[in-house]
Amino acid sequence: MNISVFGLGYVGIVTSAILSKKHKVIGVDVNPTKVSIMNQGRSPIIEEGVSELVKKGIKSKRLKATSDPKYAVMNTDVSVICVGTPSEESGGHDLSYLNNVMEEISELLKEKKKYHLIVIRSTVTPGTSLEMKEKYFQGMNVGLCFNPEFLREGVAVKDYINPPFIIVACTDKKAVKLMKEFYKGIKSEFIVAPFQEAETVKMLCNVFHAYKIVFANEVGRFSEAYGVSGKRLMSLLCRDKKLNISSKYLIPGFAYGGSCLPKDLRNLQYLARKKDLDLPVINSLDISNEKHIHNAIRKIESFDVRSVGFVGLSFKPGTDDLRESPQVRLVEYFIGKGYDVKIFDKDVSLAKLMGANKAYIEKEIPHISSLLVDRLDELDECKTIVLNRNVKKDFSNRNVVDLR
Ligand SMILES: NC(=O)c1ccc[n+]([C@@H]2O[C@H](COP(=O)([O-])OP(=O)(O)OC[C@H]3O[C@@H](n4cnc5c(N)ncnc54)[C@H](O)[C@@H]3O)[C@@H](O)[C@H]2O)c1
Repeated sequence: MNISVFGLGYVGIVTSAILSKKHKVIGVDVNPTKVSIMNQGRSPIIEEGVSELVKKGIKSKRLKATSDPKYAVMNTDVSVICVGTPSEESGGHDLSYLNNVMEEISELLKEKKKYHLIVIRSTVTPGTSLEMKEKYFQGMNVGLCFNPEFLREGVAVKDYINPPFIIVACTDKKAVKLMKEFYKGIKSEFIVAPFQEAETVKMLCNVFHAYKIVFANEVGRFSEAYGVSGKRLMSLLCRDKKLNISSKYLIPGFAYGGSCLPKDLRNLQYLARKKDLDLPVINSLDISNEKHIHNAIRKIESFDVRSVGFVGLSFKPGTDDLRESPQVRLVEYFIGKGYDVKIFDKDVSLAKLMGANKAYIEKEIPHISSLLVDRLDELDECKTIVLNRNVKKDFSNRNVVDLR
């Protein structure tokens, strides 16, 4: 393939250097110093393995750099965009470099009849790629792909050739085919996703990394205050690949609850307070959980009907434990507002309740027990259904608030 790479920064240089092992690559940058350094066979950035690759690429004549976008576009079939998208004052992405380069390429492609593929590798705000296609390439023989980059500086070459996955969002089938060729030889899952998802997941990955670092550091501060090794603690925590380092608890749904999570979180917050420790992320978990319950309340209220059927009452499926169940909170709210409430939970069926849970219902939430029904059909007259469980019944003729 003949490929041009726009933007010879950390991403662009690594991309050009690696691609030049198999393809003919023209790197483009507005910075003449970077262009000159590269053409001398040197790397303008410090990154393990890149200098050697640039040297080889230039020597083999499969890699060259230029400040002339026309030369690059006219001599390649694919243009990979790696320009910066720094933060604006508002916090949003500054897309001016991307707009500039797109406008430039669009003008040049007006003179070219052959199909040209543009691959955006810069991290962009969701919606940007299709906006660019519409704004600059409407009616042109141009395919557009958004393909987020997941490399980390310091180990960029290793990351590039061994990515966690390859995600592409493409405007047409030819673009998907070319992207498969682009990644030939790289063994990684190849995922074709809608643009909005591909753009958002890149942003989310970085936010998740930041979240993990902050959590580990809060554990570090907490452990230090109690004379325990934070590194050892986190290493132990990470050895649980079943619940901790896994996709468990990482599916959006309803609020957490039950007899363990809220209690132990409160205890950790208390222990931190005793040592005057400020742990903003850990201290915000229950606040965020509350917001989630309020969000569900808002959704249920939005239907403006006063009869609600709840499917699921315990804090998760497969248990009759009602202690600190957020579903109980929801039900209590609507009882308090005078709604006509009915509840079905096959695990909390009154008929089956025994021992501790029977006593809990009778003592703590007696006002709820009379609202429990034994059959799902008994919710038929409810105008709104709040789903917290998978059930076979079709509620599509009702207002449904799906909290699963
Ligand atoms: N740095 C990383 O580790 C990393 C990892 C993954 C994704 N990303 C994303 O990749 C993008 C690039 O990041 P970076 O760190 O390589 O940026 P960078 O600032 O190091 O490099 C951007 C380059 O683009 C050049 N440029 C600007 N306008 C141009 C134009 N019109 N034509 C040609 N060149 C132009 C600049 O001169 C600069 O050399 C960003 O969106 C970033 O968020 C970065």
